[in-house]
Order: sequence, then C-alpha cells, then structure tokens
Amino acid sequence: MTTLAARVGALAETTALPDPGPIADGEARFLVEHFALTANNVTYAVHGEDFAYWRFFPAPEGHGIVPVWGFARVNESKADGISVGQRFFGYWPMGAVAVLTPVQVSAHGFTDGAAHRSGLPPFYNRYNPASPAWGDEALQCLFRPLYATSFLIDCLVASRPVDTLLLSSASSKTALGVAQAAKGRQFVVGLTSPANRDFCEKIGYYDQVLSYNEIASVAGETIAFVDFSGNGGVRSGVHTLLGERLKESHIVGDTHWESPNTNELPGPVPQLFFAPTVAQDRVAEWGPAGFEQRLGEAWGRFAATSSWLRVERVTGDAAVAKAWAELVDGRIDPAVGIVAAL
Ligand SMILES: NC(=O)c1ccc[n+]([C@@H]2O[C@H](COP(=O)([O-])OP(=O)(O)OC[C@H]3O[C@@H](n4cnc5c(N)ncnc54)[C@H](OP(=O)(O)O)[C@@H]3O)[C@@H](O)[C@H]2O)c1
Repeated sequence: MTTLAARVGALAETTALPDPGPIADGEARFLVEHFALTANNVTYAVHGEDFAYWRFFPAPEGHGIVPVWGFARVNESKADGISVGQRFFGYWPMGAVAVLTPVQVSAHGFTDGAAHRSGLPPFYNRYNPASPAWGDEALQCLFRPLYATSFLIDCLVASRPVDTLLLSSASSKTALGVAQAAKGRQFVVGLTSPANRDFCEKIGYYDQVLSYNEIASVAGETIAFVDFSGNGGVRSGVHTLLGERLKESHIVGDTHWESPNTNELPGPVPQLFFAPTVAQDRVAEWGPAGFEQRLGEAWGRFAATSSWLRVERVTGDAAVAKAWAELVDGRIDPAVGIVAAL
C-alpha cells in the first residue's frame, strides 16, 4: 500500500511511505485504482511550495506527495454517506491508498474537508462519482482536467481580436486540446522542440509548426501567445521577435521547468491564466448546464480525433517511480499517455 513521495530539490527521487494507518471517525479510506502521469504533475511538484500543491497530501519534512488525477474506490468508511465499493474521480496522492474526510456528500460527490486542505482551491478538493460520461477511464485520467483547461483557454482566446494563436509546448496534451478546438477559427501555430516537430505536424491540429529556434517565422498579423513552456528564452524570443504583431501573452504552464524564466519583456504584459475565473465568466453567461453541455460537446469532438494516443499502463512501485523520474527529466513521448497504478 505504497505512497511515493518526491524529494524536494531532487524531484526525480522518490521514497516509499508506509500505509496511513487506521481511519478516524469522519474519514474514509480509498484504494487508488489508476491515475495519469503527465508534465502537469511535474508542474504541481515544481510549484509545490509557491502554489501550495504540497499541502494537499502532507508528507514528511523534505518530501512532497505529488497530486495525480484518477479513480479510487472506497474500501473502508467512517464518513456519513460514503459506502464501501463507491468509486470516485478526483485528485489523489501518487500512491495506492488515500485517507480523506468527506463532507458535503451528495449524489454529485463530496468535498475533502480535511483541515490541511482548507483554503485550497475548491476545484481540487471536490470528488465526483465515477461516470462513463467522459468515456474510457484511461482517457478520463489523462485528459479530464487537462481538456477542461484547453476548453477554457479556447473560450478565452476565441473572443479576442487576434487572427493567430501561438502555442508553446505544442506537443503537450493541454496545448493539443486548444489547437484542435481553435483550428479553422483562428490560424494556429505550434512551437515545439525539434524532437516533437514531426509529431505536431502529423497530428494535423496546427496550421504551422515551428521549432523553438524559428520564432521569427511565425505567420499572422495579430497574435495571442499562450505559453505552456515557462521557458524564459522562448517567452523572450516571442516578445522580442514578433514586435507589434504580438497583441497578448498568456501564461499557462511550466513544462520547461528547468529553464530560467523572465518577466522583463517588451510588448504586452503576460497574464497568468487562471482557469476558475474564466470558468466563472462562462458559467455566468451560459449557466452551469450550458457550460457542461458545451464542454461535453467540445470534448466529444476532441476525443473523436484522439486515435494518435497510445495508452501505456505502468504498474507497481518500481515501474511508477521510474516513469515519474523519466517525466521529471523530460523524457516524454507526446504520443504516449501514461496511466499508472501502485
Ligand atoms: N494553469 C492551468 O490551469 C493548467 C492546467 C493544465 C495544464 N497546465 C500546464 O500545461 C503544461 C502541459 O501539461 P500537460 O500535462 O498537457 O503536458 P504533457 O502532455 O505531458 O506534455 C509533454 C510535452 O511537454 C514538453 N516537456 C515536458 N517536460 C519537459 C521537460 N522537462 N523539458 C522540456 N520539455 C518538456 C514537451 O513538449 P515540447 O517539446 O512541445 O515543448 C513534451 O512533449 C504543464 O506545465 C501543466 O501544468 C496548466
């Protein structure tokens, strides 16, 4: 019943933590059945301190438990309304077992009311009943939170007066979701590393694919940059080389987390993309049901094109620790989706 904790300052190194022990009144024990590992999880770890991602699942001093998205089943419960055998989708520790304190329990799920999670964004504290509505569970683990972000980014940029979207880390799943949704409405340019250029071209979501050293060749007269890379050199290249054509700049990710970053840039001031704000605006305009319907339809269109994805199952402590270390080192095949179980 292992939980893997990453070493702060040497994230690729993991330590196996023992079982959390007996549960108390109000708590439930969940067996984590499977979860995705993508660069997004590395970003959680990189920003464990400054964005409080280490607070979700407290770890011994000098370590952090990486949050992951996936499915878990209740195997013991002392929480009202939570029964053994129920399954939920949500935010779990990178481990085999999780002890949560379910509150606000209803047919629509529950919130983890553990004291250490108070004040953290509600989106991450909420657990939804397992449902086939998003399709295959491996696809849900890999894409459900990422595609929701892609959809919200697409909602944001769709209304902007720009003819071109420029996406860095174009081979990442979150960028691919944006590109697929936006293609045909705006000209979509992907910036990627030389090794992933072929993949980005063949997938067909981009109108133009360039390597990071070809920024000057970006087409388009009015451009919005959406940065998934967090790479200071790339960001600075985009702001400098595109000059007046760059109209806005959005910061979403930090895949190139080992590259130094910079905020001293010419042109538009980069805006930190904050999904809950965009979601609130959309829900206010469309209503909760209208929002869910539009998200579901967009997801359906994306999922219908996802035959390029190869799901790779990784099972057991050693194999998951190795997959995590490779992810931290940036050894990622963008065509592969890792679904892990401990
Ligand atoms: N703000 C939000 O709400 C939000 C929500 C979802 C995701 N995100 C962020 O979006 C980013 C993408 O996440 P994802 O899960 O979609 O990624 P993913 O599919 O796992 O992306 C893999 C790609 O990221 C780049 N990459 C990953 N690690 C790297 C490394 N160490 N060095 C250099 N390049 C590396 C490579 O792309 P290239 O070769 O094309 O650069 C690689 O093909 C993450 O930073 C994530 O946190 C943010």
